[in-house]
Amino acid sequence: MAIIAEKKQIETSWDYRNANTKKVTHCFHSYPAMMIPQVAERLIATYGKGANLLFDPYCGTGTSLVEANIKGINAIGTDLNPLARLIARAKTSIIDIHVLDLYLKDFNDLAFSLNFGIEKPPVILPKFKNIDFWFSKTVQEELAVIKKFIESISDENIKNFFYVAFSETVRESSYTRNSEFKLYRMSEKQREKFNPNVFSLMTNKLSRNKKGLIEYIELIKDKKVYSDIKNFNTVETIGDIEEKSIDIIVTSPPYGDSKTTVAYGQFSRLANQWLEIKDANKIDNKLMGGKRTKIQKLDIKELDTIIEKINNIDNKRAQEVFSFYFDYYKSIKNVSKTIKKGGYVCYVVGNRKVKSITLPTDKITRIFFEQNGFKHIDTFVRNIPSKRMPKRNSPTNEVGKTETTMNNEFIVVMKKI
Ligand SMILES: C[S@@+](CC[C@H](N)C(=O)[O-])C[C@H]1O[C@@H](n2cnc3c(N)ncnc32)[C@H](O)[C@@H]1O
Repeated sequence: MAIIAEKKQIETSWDYRNANTKKVTHCFHSYPAMMIPQVAERLIATYGKGANLLFDPYCGTGTSLVEANIKGINAIGTDLNPLARLIARAKTSIIDIHVLDLYLKDFNDLAFSLNFGIEKPPVILPKFKNIDFWFSKTVQEELAVIKKFIESISDENIKNFFYVAFSETVRESSYTRNSEFKLYRMSEKQREKFNPNVFSLMTNKLSRNKKGLIEYIELIKDKKVYSDIKNFNTVETIGDIEEKSIDIIVTSPPYGDSKTTVAYGQFSRLANQWLEIKDANKIDNKLMGGKRTKIQKLDIKELDTIIEKINNIDNKRAQEVFSFYFDYYKSIKNVSKTIKKGGYVCYVVGNRKVKSITLPTDKITRIFFEQNGFKHIDTFVRNIPSKRMPKRNSPTNEVGKTETTMNNEFIVVMKKI
């Protein structure tokens, strides 16, 4: 075990380097900074014994909700990104596979006839800014045909199942560089050669997802469990969650504000635009730290000191960092109200660097919870072997000067006393 900080050891048993992270419905859709299902599974098994209700306040695509349901535990998740909620819903919904098969057959018939030159049915192309910048005309027409097909599905769960495959198809048939989470357009040379088969992209996703869904249904079919995916912001409220009703939280909050860290909204933008989500290009502003707050002292030495250090170098960056932590502080205050006495929270966080200064988010998380009636149980340090995260960035904003960002994650476990 390598020691990386005082009393903190990297525990390689949390790496899950060669584990299959795409089993059951976890195969559905890629998303930035996803939690490893094995981490969620282990935390729930260790700290969720006898639990009835799990909550994930930044549920993303619902990794911990899926794992809770597999263990017979009900789950509530919230996320401000509509695409994340769509995926989380689809990953935790049971569908009658015979009915799904009927729709899949209809879809395959449609794809077959169009691939073999039968005239496309008339479609209305969606209108959003820059659609021609991101999609060729042919791709737009084919996506519109698929969208029309999905809109005709009456069963909500089956519709969502198709929309999830559609969202990935949108991304992969667009001119965005697929290896990047942010939207970067392919070069002209690449665009000239790019000729995606939209229907086969879609059918491949559908058949992969159907396999995952069958595996998932097999695991939960005898368990009477639910997942309830909501749309509220814990920075402001606990929505309709009852106070002291939650047994366990397993979550991975954002590492920082979306604009300067992981741009969830930007990653999801094209899909959200095709799904006609209002203000799809403004999601990142709504996420944690998206709105600038004036720096103030929170009387937390660890936080106040780093904000001051960054402020001495760059006032704007200090404000961005503070805005994130201030929202995080308010969110933890609200989230704390939902937990039962004796309940656990498990936060998987990253200590990113800003201006070469490491932000001790693990310690700050611990302190925020301690202020709200929790005691610290443990902090595990894990390597990030395979997460799709930028390993290097430019924290000083100097051209060409990059630094290793995060190779480790911290799993902070707290208990309500
Ligand atoms: C690290 S991701 C979660 C990934 C998730 N564990 C998974 O496996 O898919 C963090 C999520 O927090 C969401 N988020 C950011 N700010 C939020 C807020 N104030 N309220 C709810 N969700 C928020 C983002 O949209 C993003 O989906």
